[in-house]
Amino acid sequence: MLKDIVDVLADPVDGTPLRCADDLSRLVSESGHSYDVARQGYVTLAGGRGLNHEGDSAEMVTARELFLSQGHFAPFVEAVTERVAEVIDKSHAPEPVVLEVGAGTGYYLSHTLDSIDGSRGVGMDISVPAAKLLAKAHPRVGAVVADAWEGLPLLDASVDALTVIFAPRNPAEFARVLRDDAEAVILLADQGHLDELREPLGILGVKSGKLERMMRQAEGYLELVGDAELLEFPIRLDRASIAAQVGMSPSARHVEAGVLRERLARLPEFMDVTARAQLVRMRKS
Ligand SMILES: C[S@@+](CC[C@H](N)C(=O)[O-])C[C@H]1O[C@@H](n2cnc3c(N)ncnc32)[C@H](O)[C@@H]1O
Repeated sequence: MLKDIVDVLADPVDGTPLRCADDLSRLVSESGHSYDVARQGYVTLAGGRGLNHEGDSAEMVTARELFLSQGHFAPFVEAVTERVAEVIDKSHAPEPVVLEVGAGTGYYLSHTLDSIDGSRGVGMDISVPAAKLLAKAHPRVGAVVADAWEGLPLLDASVDALTVIFAPRNPAEFARVLRDDAEAVILLADQGHLDELREPLGILGVKSGKLERMMRQAEGYLELVGDAELLEFPIRLDRASIAAQVGMSPSARHVEAGVLRERLARLPEFMDVTARAQLVRMRKS
């Protein structure tokens, strides 16, 4: 809940600390700005200009929830949790704070919190439908709607581990909110990820060079801890899971809905596909 993580949140306008007010119906900052807590339990922390875009739609979030609930990405969630647990183990923080940027449904963050005693989670996403799920994803998650590109509404050096799973990265802000001994654990889709679906459905593939681009953006803010780790495993997907996978990804926006439905209907009942991503650990440079 928000009250468990309010001590690390910051006013998006001026960065001053926030506290709960009026029975958790709003958060107020030291400088007097006030942010209403939605009845579903999340808070929107956006500066004067508001949010630039909406992020994932309600349909995409529902598709994501359905797909992830089948456990197809279990090796990804386990690897992320394992790395975060290693980082927290070293820090000895009593109530460590894990921030997930672009947290979606909270699938990864909930798993991580379940595995680390006493940990608290900030689930941040720009999408309101995602935030509604995040707010009830786990008793120790506080859900925040914010734009990662605009800046993170968190205090300096307030986070023990930060995770980003297939979501936007803002290295300057990551370096600002990470404690000195903290790390960012980042999962990047790698070229070839779910490639078997690309041709039959006419959807976009993952471009090469994602890691190199991220390293260039991170220069001066973050540096690698060890080598990037390639995670690759086979998954058997039924047609409903394939439809959910397509529905939760930007691919859905590139092919007309009727055409996509026809192509999905022509697929075999099951397909064997390859999941492929790079797991990267970074710390402040
Ligand atoms: C591919 S999804 C990944 C969701 C989740 N990490 C997962 O793997 O299940 C990307 C997420 O980032 C969010 N997002 C997109 N742009 C964002 C931004 N500028 N700031 C915060 N979140 C953003 C989307 O709404 C979406 O939930």
